[in-house]
Amino acid sequence: MPPALHLWGIVTALLFSFGALHVSRATQVDPAILDACPGYNATNVKVTGPTLTAKLVLAGTPCNVFGNDTKALNLVATYETETRIHLKITDAFNTRYEVPESVFPRPVRDPTVSVQRAEIKFTYTVAPFSFNISRARTNEVLFTTAGHSLIFEPQYLRLKTTLPPAANIYGLGEHTEPFRLDSTNTTRTLWSRDAFGIPTGTNLYSNHPVYFEHRAGGGTHAVFLLSSSGMDVKIRGGGNSASSSPTTLEYNVIGGVLDFYFLAGSETDPAEVARQYAQVVGTPAEVPYWSFGLHQCRYGYQNYIDVANVITNYSAAGIPLETMWTDIDYMFKRRIFTMDPDYFPTSRMREIINYLHKHDQRYVLMTDPAIAYLPGPGQGYGPYDRGTQLDVWLKASNGTSPSLGVVWPGVTVYPDWFHPQISSYWNEEFNLFFNPQTGFDIDGAWIDMNDPASFCTYPCDDPFAQAAAQNFPPPRTSPPPNPNARIFSDSTLTHSKRAAPNHVGEDLLNPPYAINNAAGVLSDRTAYTNAIHANGLVEYDTHNLYGTMMSVATHDAMLARRPGLRTFVITRSTFAGAGRKVGKWLGDNLSTWEHYRLSIAGMLGMASVFQVPMIGSDICGFGLNTTEMLCARWAMLGAFYPFMRNHNSDVSISQEFYRWPLVTQAAKNALNIRYRLLDYFYTTFHQASIDGSPETSTFGLDLQFFFGDSILVSPVTEENATSVSIYLPKDRFYDFATLAPIEGEGQQVTLSNVNFTTIPLHIRGGVVLPLRVAGAMTTTELRKTGFQFVIAPGLNGTAVGGLYVDDGERIMQRKTTSVKMEFAGGKLSVSGSFAFDVGVKLVSVVFLDVGCAPDVISVDSGKEGKMNVPFSYDPVTKVLWVQTDIGLTHGFEVAFSS
Ligand code: NOJ
Repeated sequence: MPPALHLWGIVTALLFSFGALHVSRATQVDPAILDACPGYNATNVKVTGPTLTAKLVLAGTPCNVFGNDTKALNLVATYETETRIHLKITDAFNTRYEVPESVFPRPVRDPTVSVQRAEIKFTYTVAPFSFNISRARTNEVLFTTAGHSLIFEPQYLRLKTTLPPAANIYGLGEHTEPFRLDSTNTTRTLWSRDAFGIPTGTNLYSNHPVYFEHRAGGGTHAVFLLSSSGMDVKIRGGGNSASSSPTTLEYNVIGGVLDFYFLAGSETDPAEVARQYAQVVGTPAEVPYWSFGLHQCRYGYQNYIDVANVITNYSAAGIPLETMWTDIDYMFKRRIFTMDPDYFPTSRMREIINYLHKHDQRYVLMTDPAIAYLPGPGQGYGPYDRGTQLDVWLKASNGTSPSLGVVWPGVTVYPDWFHPQISSYWNEEFNLFFNPQTGFDIDGAWIDMNDPASFCTYPCDDPFAQAAAQNFPPPRTSPPPNPNARIFSDSTLTHSKRAAPNHVGEDLLNPPYAINNAAGVLSDRTAYTNAIHANGLVEYDTHNLYGTMMSVATHDAMLARRPGLRTFVITRSTFAGAGRKVGKWLGDNLSTWEHYRLSIAGMLGMASVFQVPMIGSDICGFGLNTTEMLCARWAMLGAFYPFMRNHNSDVSISQEFYRWPLVTQAAKNALNIRYRLLDYFYTTFHQASIDGSPETSTFGLDLQFFFGDSILVSPVTEENATSVSIYLPKDRFYDFATLAPIEGEGQQVTLSNVNFTTIPLHIRGGVVLPLRVAGAMTTTELRKTGFQFVIAPGLNGTAVGGLYVDDGERIMQRKTTSVKMEFAGGKLSVSGSFAFDVGVKLVSVVFLDVGCAPDVISVDSGKEGKMNVPFSYDPVTKVLWVQTDIGLTHGFEVAFSS
């Protein structure tokens, strides 16, 4: 058996034998013992403007559950804006770890903030100290630590709040749970982990210590704990009904400080809290227009011919492929920044990239963080030698020798993203390898294994033996291809080190409170937690930041290659704020119906809570073998992920969309709709980049979702099914396929006869949708296709919409077009700024739910005067179709009268 097969065999077997039986190794403590701890009393309370400070003094005999109770703490609570309170509790005498500003810039405060006008308020009790955060208008308590002792020890922090019964809690990711977390018994562990099979109930790749809580009739608010330390957040409750006993939410954190942001959100608009959270973590990066096209990837393309064939086959099948990807297969002995000369020869790979670019398509290559450890003369591996010269590797606990792991190439070192020279190193490696003139002119970067992952099982005393035993790097199992094969036949320093300042006497490898890490001990299959960064910080504190720091470095390296252009970087591991620079995929899911369904909750979490909107799951599933039906349904669901990529493991059957006629058709149908909607989605994404408005939403439901704010996507969710029961809110909707109006009754509706190449979509009433009149084979071609406005009035007969267009590539846009469409009383008014040359015209306007055929339809574009235009009307569907020929260069009106 080839080694890769062997490895996956083991992993899969483990998953199946133990996946569901994951044994918690978290420290079990009787909650009564924690509750019996003395807590603290507040003294020396001072209020200065919007800030309250106090000293918290241990209120009794220390309970010393996981170390010695800290005797005195500093409390600072500040109204930073009228919707945000920042509350921080730190050790009064010792410096403890805090997430560095360089990694997480702190949000801007409003210097004119008025405490009187604030929408949430902070109140406290002196002895024992506890605090409440309440909604100012209603006095509803949103967070209260009353009755739960605060515990503050070197390696254990505990803070607990009581919430309403059956609380509606979303977030605390990354996870494979329902979107609304089970409030009766959920433990969310935050510790990045290489989580093959993304098992439910375990910690995964990313860490977003924030939750949104939605209260029936009481609005939606958020609580963000700015901490990169490992933690268990335990949610417990007495039941799922309003009469159950209260829910509690308890933070159990193994280091750092308590650094909370409480966000008021809004009583009426659930999306507002997302905007407020974006003010804290940053708004998402704008991505290139092309990155919303279809991406194809797999682990296990054997050579350059495989890659070229996939490109050719997509085009032969008429499925628009925007971007081709290549996994670690391309590397020589799995070393990053190398190309295998026999299997992926440089000249042939450059030919492929040129071909793609000539056809307005793109290319992405994977880069892992770990660098093959190849010391000694004669090895000739530049990336290792140059990094060693700059001394940029993460260090072992002795502070001098590199911290070693085992990754694909065998024994490896890890870049230290805190090292002062790390950006020059990473930029230079990107510049050398991905050099358009001499290397591989990639359009985007894919970064993986940055949790950071290692295949070395703890204790990793002998990484060399472990690498050898697991056969890393695995030898190639197929013979090298003909280097001249015909492809595309259709076309032709040193720096001062200091020891970790604040962990004296602590056990960084096996802390007394063991979080529920599904991998076991903290350092298992990752960098050791006692490894030291150049700035003296230890992995124990910063582990959860590794992926995000690599993301930022990679974003910057890509920007340096193509200055001024938006970057496209997809990462596996993220921390709060990562969305400012990169997108993410949801890791190694399985080709199962369960993961097909759960992908929606995963996407909603990233897009609507964590501010990482460029998100998608591996379409058709990564591990295991997909089926034709699953892949067909998934191709259509995936067409409504912001990031749409088909990706597969090395030992699974091929699953490119063209492999089955049914999947080909399903993919074509859904891509046609996606591409027609691309500018609508791009407009929504642009808005998200300005203020963090979530571009996909729904509370409670996680088998349906809104793509943008107006397209309700309701995929069939069961195997063999051709019907689906969907929830239609009490509102006006329109069937996307027929454009016929439908009244939502605020209840479930069953849709029948949904064949395997169709995905049910509804337009929410009250919107004007800017569509392209047709799909296209590339996004470049799409941008040359005319627009169509679809007017879908709401129950009150009016509709509004927007269209934002720019060049789709540059960070700074000199000229943009931003259009507002408003419909009322039979008249569509289009206004806005029209500086960017859209290059195409508005070729039709489609009015929905028009009672009867009009007598006349006129277009008034000011300058050219009023003109009657041709139209047709269907009395059955009540659709009025109007032919237009209007340049999007100025405002105009389209009106009908009967
Ligand atoms: C793990 C990643 O999650 C997966 O997507 C990738 O194919 C493999 N690493 C190989 O690079």
